Amino acid sequence: MRLNASLAALAALSLPIASADSTTDGPDENGLYWIYSEGLSAAFIAYGASISRLLINDQYGIQRDIVAGFDNASYYGIDQQHPHFGGVPGRYANRIQNSTFEIDGVAYHVDPNEHPTDAEPNGVNTLHGGHDGWDYRNFTVVSHTNDSITFSIVDPDGKEGFPGEVVSYITYTLRDYTWDFKMVALATTKKTPIMLSSHTYWNLDGFANNETNTALNHTLYLPYSGQRIGVDNILIPTGDILANKEGSVNDFWSAPKQIGASLNDPEAFTLLTHMTDNAWIINREAPYNWRDGSSYVARLQSPWSGIQVDIYTDQDAFQVYSCNGQNGTITLKETQGLDDNPDFPRTIPQYGCIVLEVEDWIDAINHPEWGRADKQIFGPGGDPYVLQASYVFSINTTATS
Ligand SMILES: *[C@@H]1O[C@H](CO)[C@@H](O)[C@H](O)[C@H]1NC(C)=O
Ligand SMILES: *[C@@H]1O[C@H](CO)[C@@H](O)[C@H](O)[C@H]1NC(C)=O
Ligand SMILES: *[C@@H]1O[C@H](CO)[C@@H](O)[C@H](O)[C@H]1NC(C)=O
Ligand SMILES: *[C@@H]1O[C@H](CO)[C@@H](O)[C@H](O)[C@H]1NC(C)=O
Ligand SMILES: *[C@@H]1O[C@H](CO)[C@@H](O)[C@H](O)[C@H]1NC(C)=O
Ligand SMILES: *[C@@H]1O[C@H](CO)[C@@H](O)[C@H](O)[C@H]1NC(C)=O
Ligand SMILES: *[C@@H]1O[C@H](CO)[C@@H](O)[C@H](O)[C@H]1NC(C)=O
Ligand SMILES: *[C@@H]1O[C@H](CO)[C@@H](O)[C@H](O)[C@H]1NC(C)=O
Repeated sequence: MRLNASLAALAALSLPIASADSTTDGPDENGLYWIYSEGLSAAFIAYGASISRLLINDQYGIQRDIVAGFDNASYYGIDQQHPHFGGVPGRYANRIQNSTFEIDGVAYHVDPNEHPTDAEPNGVNTLHGGHDGWDYRNFTVVSHTNDSITFSIVDPDGKEGFPGEVVSYITYTLRDYTWDFKMVALATTKKTPIMLSSHTYWNLDGFANNETNTALNHTLYLPYSGQRIGVDNILIPTGDILANKEGSVNDFWSAPKQIGASLNDPEAFTLLTHMTDNAWIINREAPYNWRDGSSYVARLQSPWSGIQVDIYTDQDAFQVYSCNGQNGTITLKETQGLDDNPDFPRTIPQYGCIVLEVEDWIDAINHPEWGRADKQIFGPGGDPYVLQASYVFSINTTATS
């Protein structure tokens, strides 16, 4: 708890956008918990432990909010489109084939919630932990300071069909133009799969680019990702590990490349559907120090705002989704977009954003041949699940355009 004296001191500072309420330990009137560092302000909500605002100045000194979301915390649970805005998918992120997996010879069946058919009206697979996955639930705020916030969740035994209780802590911290996060989860009673991620939607122009409202001109670089996980037509891993040939649609490793570089290439078009919702593998030669300042696993930059983010992580896969499913039905936040510009309505268009997810190899629980059980199956008395990442922001005006 903060002392009144420091409250008064804080109130005297004019922090960006934040209201007076945001200087208390509680949320502001929109349900947002604000944290700050040099160059960055961010707001989080209990719903899904989600990031809801990320404010940074662009190359002209104009403040931009570079993550998608809604104006207030209460709306996240109301909007039926629920695009997993900025949350922590759990207890098992991405897809589980046939909504089933085995541990020690026992088959478990979890809640199917994607790709409904006549035979399977709820769906043929599970996405992001089921209908009531972690990013549909309010976490508990266990700690909130000026530069850091920690959320917790207790996921009961049997919830969405998963075995055993899981207790998790999600900590977000800002420092020097950097957003750090650490996710820890403990399987307290039974062996269970755990895979978390951060499902943040980026538009490094704050949806305020007055020349294009898509993120297709953003440049992406994945220097360690010469391979990706092969998927079928509903994005379920087939077991194949595919090479991203140099110069091919999926090559983001040989050099930085615009997200939209292959959009109008008819040969690439069918591939692009996959390209824009794929798990790239991060191949680093062990031992490595994931925090090493020269070894970011992904770089995204926008030539218009000049904003660049370099992503460092201890994880071994990286999902990229370029918002091909968006269709202009979601309204931008008040902190984003252009006003009174008939060319650019205040909504998120197709390709208007890009989701970047640090995670482990998707659906590896159904691919024991990949040998990732120690990164995906956790039990009482064993090591906890840990995910760490640092997102380092800068202005780069020599970005490729
Ligand atoms: C909160 O963080 C901001 C940005 O780093 C700083 O200006 C302010 O002094 C901090 N307030 C307190 C009470 O530490
Ligand atoms: C919350 O945000 C939504 C979406 O922007 C808006 O429709 C709603 O009126 C807001 N509710 C409150 C209480 O501000
Ligand atoms: C979650 O929190 C939001 C506000 O932050 C609130 O409107 C909503 O009712 C809560 N949902 C549940 C299930 O408690
Ligand atoms: C737009 O996408 C949303 C979410 O996927 C869907 O519910 C809606 O029907 C779509 N609208 C149109 C006009 O395609
Ligand atoms: C899912 O079902 C298909 C078709 O029946 C089968 O080939 C595949 O092995 C199943 N996968 C899992 C993980 O159960
Ligand atoms: C477009 O945005 C840039 C950068 O903020 C600005 O310099 C320029 O004046 C804007 N152009 C128009 C036509 O508004
Ligand atoms: C987007 O990139 C293309 C090159 O791929 C370039 O011709 C165009 O000017 C860029 N537009 C903006 C708004 O940056
Ligand atoms: C800026 O982006 C260019 C093009 O991707 C890259 O070569 C350069 O290293 C970047 N500069 C910094 C300081 O990150």
